[in-house]
Amino acid sequence: MRCCNKDKIEKTFFIETWGCQMNEEDSEKLSGMLKKMGYIRTESKINADLIILNTCCVRENAELKVYGHLGALKKMKRENPNLIIALCGCMMQQKHMAENIIKKFPFVDIIFGTHNAYKFPQYLNTVRQENSSVVEIQDRETGIVEGIPIDRESTVKAFVTIMYGCNNFCTYCIVPYVRGRERSRNPVNIEDEIKDLVSKGYKEITLLGQNVNSYGKDLVPKVKFSQLLRRINGIEGLDRIRFMTSHPKDLTEDVIDAVLECDKVCEQIHLPVQSGSNNILKRMNRNYSKEQYLELIYKIRKKIPEAAITTDIMVGFPGESEEDFEETLNLAKEVEYDSAFTFIYSRRKGTPADKLEEQVPENIKHERFNRLVEVVNESSAKKNKVYEGKIEEILVEGLSKNNSAKLMGRTRTGKLVNFQGDVDSIGRLVKVRISKAHSFSLSGKQI
Ligand code: SAH
Ligand code: SF4
Ligand code: F3S
Repeated sequence: MRCCNKDKIEKTFFIETWGCQMNEEDSEKLSGMLKKMGYIRTESKINADLIILNTCCVRENAELKVYGHLGALKKMKRENPNLIIALCGCMMQQKHMAENIIKKFPFVDIIFGTHNAYKFPQYLNTVRQENSSVVEIQDRETGIVEGIPIDRESTVKAFVTIMYGCNNFCTYCIVPYVRGRERSRNPVNIEDEIKDLVSKGYKEITLLGQNVNSYGKDLVPKVKFSQLLRRINGIEGLDRIRFMTSHPKDLTEDVIDAVLECDKVCEQIHLPVQSGSNNILKRMNRNYSKEQYLELIYKIRKKIPEAAITTDIMVGFPGESEEDFEETLNLAKEVEYDSAFTFIYSRRKGTPADKLEEQVPENIKHERFNRLVEVVNESSAKKNKVYEGKIEEILVEGLSKNNSAKLMGRTRTGKLVNFQGDVDSIGRLVKVRISKAHSFSLSGKQI
């Protein structure tokens, strides 16, 4: 029935996304479904008919941001009672959080979790037709729902989720509770999605999962992640393949070999270490030791010397002593990461670490954080410096944010490059001479 199209066409939506690429992808799917319903995306909340907040709960500050936004939305809803407000994502998947929102912000129209995002059009129709609110959190994950339209931000590079959920239960982490157990997508569906992207002009894809190295263990027959990499490497017209995240306990030699041998797979490995102390790694349930981690780094560096290695590091896990922290600092100094995401441990309700005594005082956590950032920044700058004077292959992603006369793109190793060049090169691989290295980027000129 197309009778409702008239009033559908004028509707606009605004979507705000926090958290990781999992949430980004969910937002792209929500956006894809809304566009199919006739909604138009707007980049401003003002005058939007529908506002969606896609939430993250990996750390407390992610949640606080949502509360801040809801406070402002209360006034907008009062001024425009027709405005529909929807909340979804990982924070909503936690029952106590959803209940809290209903109590404190009763004007929210739709609340749903991570497992039932695909039902959003149905919820929206209920609210519009029946003028009632909808709250639906599904306790458990269902099978993978394929075929949802995805409205992607970029036209050059795309994220493709290869598996959902996580089985690792690191003791600080909320993700397994809000994203469910590991579920791998069928390789045929992954390949088809990538071929379709390539036919639309996409040049780079990043394969996503909380732990891509355990991809395919749940499939019948089993498929190894390295096999998937090799299959995707055979797709004609695709220039680059990246993947994240790798768990150090699962990154096997066949994956390193696939990175080395597959021409499209880029030399960049994100390998979160979290801590350099065996005592803390054990309490985190990471299932590797500092020594095993370092051995893996040396293996990668030996086989692929040009590889960029990046990581996630956390300070202030319960019981972390000054000595434990110094081991983390020493590990970061030894590895010399290309870049690192650094985090201050944040207590998450329902996780084992939240119940541990010996929580580290805030001031000590901050002091350690600052010391760690200093070490990481030093190695990032040093790694970038090596690029000065070199000619690099860059996939041009678009106009630079620095200066509209300049373009931006990335090296195979994932370094951001702002450069002078020809606007027609957007979406293509070009050669750029790197003239200067900065702390977090490079600059240069197309040749
Ligand atoms: N699956 C990935 C990353 C998931 S979350 C992995 O295993 O590495 C991204 C990062 O957030 C984690 O690597 C961790 O460093 C950080 N993180 C997760 N829970 C946290 C918490 N409770 N407090 C602080 N940082 C946390
Ligand atoms: Fe969280 Fe650990 Fe799973 Fe990563 S591997 S998502 S840190 S539980
Ligand atoms: Fe946040 Fe959920 Fe990702 S908690 S980090 S958006 S999986």
